[in-house]
Amino acid sequence: QPDREGAHDLAGVRAVVSAGGTREPLDPVRFLGNRSSGRQGLAVADALAARGADVTLVAAHVEVPLDGPSRAGAPEHRVVHVSTALDLERAMTDLAPACDVVVMAAAVADYRPATAGAAKLKKSGADLTLTLVENPDVLAGLVGRRHPGQIVVGFAAETGDAQRDAAAHGRAKAVRKGADLLAVNVVGESAGFGDVPNAVVVLDAAGEEVGRADGSKIDVAWGLVDLIVGRRGR
Ligand code: CTP
Ligand code: CA
Repeated sequence: QPDREGAHDLAGVRAVVSAGGTREPLDPVRFLGNRSSGRQGLAVADALAARGADVTLVAAHVEVPLDGPSRAGAPEHRVVHVSTALDLERAMTDLAPACDVVVMAAAVADYRPATAGAAKLKKSGADLTLTLVENPDVLAGLVGRRHPGQIVVGFAAETGDAQRDAAAHGRAKAVRKGADLLAVNVVGESAGFGDVPNAVVVLDAAGEEVGRADGSKIDVAWGLVDLIVGRRGR
């Protein structure tokens, strides 16, 4: 990002960023997963590092290779690999206390199979009903244990439904989560964004809009980091 050089406003700041999608095992060879690529979280980690922060990336299943030619010239991150929501919770809980900035960009499975046997599930010739149990809300836990001066950031993608439009869902979630910043991707609503590939409205813990960022995932990451910088020391 040659046009963005010069800002080293996060020197000495420690950050942890989760990215990618968790996988919840059904048996030794199968899992419930999601389509998160990890690109947005990685872009946030890159933007924080480019501005001088010391970044640890907690990588669930990230589609993009974390080393290799596509990362040439990109910042190198300390990486902690995780798989399930429970693994991710453990890693974030370990790392967050020492960090000034905590970003939950990972797509965390809301549920996991109640049992994941050591043996492969066999087909039985009949329908199969799975029982799922709720995973912990990692972001809510981090918000609850936030220390003074620490900034906790979440992401959400919202769509409208019969009850509320996407923006109203975003505001309700921001208030419910209590994160300092919640970057809400309002899916399927142009919301004045035009034809940009990615757009987020950033809300504070009261559900009030504090800014917007749009463009590539890198543009969104830099816009979000601007807002994080703006909130530091407040
Ligand atoms: N998140 C989390 N732990 C979970 C689920 C979500 O930490 N078990 C985090 C995500 O990383 C994201 C934020 O919470 O930063 C919002 O995720 P989202 O799935 O939009 O929120 P949920 O509370 O799971 O609500 P929903 O019912 O809309 O999925
Ligand atoms: Ca969810």
